[in-house]
Amino acid sequence: MKVLVVGSGGREHAFVWKLSQSSRVTKIFCAPGNAGIARLAKCIDIKADDVDSLLNFAKYEGIDLTVVGPEAPLTKGITDAFIKEGRMIFGVNASASRLEGSKVYAKEFMLKYGIPTAEYKSFTSYHQAEEYIRLKGSPAVIKADGLAAGKGVFVAETAEEAINALNVIMKDKAFGDAGDKVIIEQCLKGEEASFMVLIDGETILPLASSQDHKRIFDNDEGPNTGGMGAYSPAPVVTKELEEEIMASIMDPIMKGLAREEIKFRGVLYAGLMICDGKPYVLEFNCRFGDPEAQPILMRLESDLYDVMKATAEGRLDQVNLRWKDATSICVVLSSEGYPGEYAKGRVITGLDSFKGRDDVFVFHAGTAANDNGEFITTGGRVLGVTALGSDIKTAKENAYKAIEKIHFEGMHYRKDIGDRAINRE
Ligand code: AMP
Ligand code: GLY
Repeated sequence: MKVLVVGSGGREHAFVWKLSQSSRVTKIFCAPGNAGIARLAKCIDIKADDVDSLLNFAKYEGIDLTVVGPEAPLTKGITDAFIKEGRMIFGVNASASRLEGSKVYAKEFMLKYGIPTAEYKSFTSYHQAEEYIRLKGSPAVIKADGLAAGKGVFVAETAEEAINALNVIMKDKAFGDAGDKVIIEQCLKGEEASFMVLIDGETILPLASSQDHKRIFDNDEGPNTGGMGAYSPAPVVTKELEEEIMASIMDPIMKGLAREEIKFRGVLYAGLMICDGKPYVLEFNCRFGDPEAQPILMRLESDLYDVMKATAEGRLDQVNLRWKDATSICVVLSSEGYPGEYAKGRVITGLDSFKGRDDVFVFHAGTAANDNGEFITTGGRVLGVTALGSDIKTAKENAYKAIEKIHFEGMHYRKDIGDRAINRE
């Protein structure tokens, strides 16, 4: 079977890596891919959100399954376009992707179907938003309505910080028209977890739990990023909590999707805050998390091709996911300056030391190859060093030991990925 993976990050490298282990997969293409992906798949120079070119390519190559990583092509309707042409695709359609594409829509959906979330108000007027901030006081969370690559959310400890954030979103238009509307919501205190499920329209199947680290610096300091590291499982998600998440969040979502006549086939990612043992939804994504996909897929024993195909065909009731009884941890190595302006073109060394290891894999995100055949940095998040271990301590040791071998100028990474889980033990 021929597979096309759409995207170019660590998540897509993890898809390609896992799909390449399937006995059913004969050839993998990736559009546009990166230098690490190029070792396992043929990279095609088509942008991830160029729906027409992707469809033409899939038809021309006779691709059996297309797998979409990032949100942009989903909100642009790639799934609708492929299905219209009778082509199999793993990824939600445009109407389902609104749960991620508009935070205002997601909040209204949650309110309508009784899904626990922070109290909020949405605004299109800067002045009314500013007035509300002054009225409500701090802390407060300010969110751009549309897609902003995980950077459109500001947790403001003071009213001044909140108003600054409002300026960045609504006046400076740092995220373009994603900032035409804002949400101002109550700041929840607790522990975060990422909870993903596969949905095929009828059946819902939870994936292993995970925990992301959104802030750039240790101890959750500094600005939000796309994610600086993750581990799976997340010990905060106990069996009881998982039952509670399924009952108080996922069941109402399934009812809501049915009532709104939204056919949801793909991944639903709920970003949760666990406050006094109760889960609240901070956000929805309609795709695998990045970096969460890396540790989760490293633990998956089932054939990813079969699982994705079953999701696309509405046969998830026949799937039984099998997981390695181990912990996996991914530490992201980022470029100097990220999540702001960052340096590019730095030569990366040390990546060949991991060949043949099955307990460590370095997933590439923003990398390319230069004319000398060396790997260079091209993105904010560059690599995701992902390791398995019998427990979180061992997995952490394995990941950080691997990082010692890797170098590029200005390389930054958090030193505390995994500590939250270790401190729980
Ligand atoms: P989101 O993209 O909505 O998940 O927000 C990004 C990050 O901002 C989350 O992972 C949290 O760390 C933080 N955040 C978002 N909403 C809230 C909230 N209501 N209370 C506290 N922190 C929040
Ligand atoms: N790591 C968070 C996300 O993928 O949105």
